[in-house]
Parts: sequence; C-alpha cells; structure tokens
Amino acid sequence: MKAIVYKPGELPVYADFPDPVVTNSNELLMRVKAVAVKNLDKAKVSGKHYSSATDNGLRVAGSDGVGLLADGTRVYAFGKDGMLAEHAVVEKSHIVRVPGGLSDAIAAALPNAIMGSALALRYRANMQAGDTVLINGATGFTGKMAVQLARDYGAKKVIVTGRNEKILQSLLQLGADEIVSLKQGDDSFVQALKRMHADTPIDVILDYVWGHSVELILSVLKGKGTFSQRTRLVTIGAMSGDTIQLSSQILRSVDLQISGSGLGSWSGEEVGKLFSEIIPEAFELAANNKLVVDTFEVDFVNSAKLWQEESPNGKRMVVVIP
Ligand SMILES: NC(=O)c1ccc[n+]([C@@H]2O[C@H](COP(=O)([O-])OP(=O)(O)OC[C@H]3O[C@@H](n4cnc5c(N)ncnc54)[C@H](OP(=O)(O)O)[C@@H]3O)[C@@H](O)[C@H]2O)c1
Repeated sequence: MKAIVYKPGELPVYADFPDPVVTNSNELLMRVKAVAVKNLDKAKVSGKHYSSATDNGLRVAGSDGVGLLADGTRVYAFGKDGMLAEHAVVEKSHIVRVPGGLSDAIAAALPNAIMGSALALRYRANMQAGDTVLINGATGFTGKMAVQLARDYGAKKVIVTGRNEKILQSLLQLGADEIVSLKQGDDSFVQALKRMHADTPIDVILDYVWGHSVELILSVLKGKGTFSQRTRLVTIGAMSGDTIQLSSQILRSVDLQISGSGLGSWSGEEVGKLFSEIIPEAFELAANNKLVVDTFEVDFVNSAKLWQEESPNGKRMVVVIP
C-alpha cells in the first residue's frame, strides 16, 4: 500500500509500505479516507515527543483517521501510529462511529482537539458551571475548541490570550468574553490580567503555550498573604518552550493546583469515557453545526511535502486518501 512513512528524526516521505495485518480479536482493519495532521504527529516524527519511538525503524505517520470498516461502517479511529496510509489496523476500543452529516475531514480533526480541551476541563481542572476560565494560546485549533467547550460547560467568563489579532477577535463569536494579546509588553499583559482577576477571580487556566507567558500568568495569581480560592492550571501544550521558572513564593501565596493533560496522564476510565461519551457528544454538536471546526484538505501524494508548513489561522490540515 501507499503510506507516509518516516524514521524518527527524519522528514516523512510518500512511499510503499507493507499492508498492516490484524493480529488479535481486539483489532480491525480500516480503509483510511481522511487523516488530520497535528502537532502531536509532527513532534512524534521529529523524535522529540515523549511518546516518540526510540528505535530507528521505518513506520507510518499519523494518529487520527476516519475510514471504513469491512462492513462499510464509517468510523473515527485513534491509533498510536500508522494512520497516514491506505489501510490501518485499529483497536475496537479506540473507534467511534461517525454520524451522518459530519464530513470525514471534521471527524478526523475534531477528536485530538477534544482530547486537548474536554479532558483537561473535565478531568484535570474539574471545571464547574460558573467558573471563570483563562485559555492561554486560544488562537490555535485546540484553543478554539476549548473556548467553545468552556462556554458549553457553563463558564461564567472566558478570557483568551494569543498572538494572532484576527483570530483573537474572531474568538468573541465563539464564546470568549475578554481578549488579552500576547504581543503586548509584559507589564501591560500582567496589568490587564490582574484587572480581570480582581474583577472575576480566575478558577481555571488551560495552557497551550507554557514558557514565559505562564510565568507572567503565575505572577498575576501571586497573593498577599490572605485567603485565596483555588486556581487550577492545566498544561496541555508547550508551543513556546517546555520549561518555566516556578516561584516558591507564588505557590505559597495562593491555593494553586498545577497538572498536565496528555497521553499518559489520563486513567483507563477517562480514556474509556473519551471514546464512549465525549467524542460522540462532540460529533453530535459538530453535525448539528454547534461547534465551529476549521479544516483544510490536502491530497495524499503531496502531504509529506507540506509536513513542515504551519497551518494558517488555527485551521487543521486533513489529508484526503483516495
Ligand atoms: N495534550 C493534549 O491532549 C493535546 C491535544 C491537542 C493539542 N495539544 C497541544 O497543544 C498545543 C496547541 O495545539 P493546537 O492544536 O492548538 O495547535 P495549532 O492549531 O498549531 O496552534 C498553535 C498555537 O500555538 C500558538 N503559538 C505558537 N508558537 C507560540 C509562541 N512562541 N508563543 C505563543 N504562542 C505560540 C499559536 O498562536 P498564534 O496563532 O496566536 O500565533 C496558536 O495558538 C500543541 O503543543 C499541541 O501539541 C495537546
């Protein structure tokens, strides 16, 4: 079969690859029709993701695909590797039926953003209706989903940060209440957030950026020695760097819970709910036009050449496989 194949640390190429084989009763063969290419796939191919393969073997890229099972059922499937190919072996426990009315492209693109928003909001931040939610890096594909879900889950206020001014403005239509640009100077960024935090204390912070912007956000939370409510900060991505300086004084001055949401941090039960409830719910919302999901399609043969291109304006690239 044809596939997009790579060795960790090298760029992927369009090439021939042996057909995958079902090896046990928990697996199914899927004819792949559409695959979303995300930061996770790029990080795995680069060899820099914590879940990247450590051997030098040739493998198929891509982890989120939509396709047809042998009986014609159209499903979304999450695979650790191996989706960017004409055929893939998928696990029965990691598939979701795609409802009519939802395109292959949207069904392929949505689940990773749902993992990166719904799981963080529900299981790491334990978000409650009435919470004030700050989304750092809301201008990306996943951040845009987080804005919509935070609103859907009953947030009192949604504050968003990002660099892209045009997308920041567009987030007001998706459910954001306040915009804070990451492009302004540190002092004005901190002052703007301090005003908002004093007005409506921030309960939940979802972070896709990490690095310096999170150091600034933590300085906003720093207390003065009196009682404070708990703020739950969840790191989901690290677009501007993997480390921060963490002040002991800040941790002692506020009731702050810091956690992460990603592959490996979720329990088996949480992953089970993701496939049985959370992704199906998101598919229904999208099929009924209640979620805005921006994708653009590229053809299979050329997709490897586009590997290093940045997706424009928070849109997700989806590879269409004929
Ligand atoms: N753990 C999980 O379950 C999970 C799931 C999904 C995604 N993620 C991670 O979350 C992050 C965002 O994913 P995505 O799908 O939203 O990506 P995306 O659509 O490619 O968007 C990238 C985002 O990162 C921002 N950004 C990039 N470099 C930056 C920098 N130096 N400083 C500040 N902002 C920067 C962009 O801001 P502007 O456009 O405003 O410049 C944009 O908001 C990635 O690290 C991804 O791997 C994790």
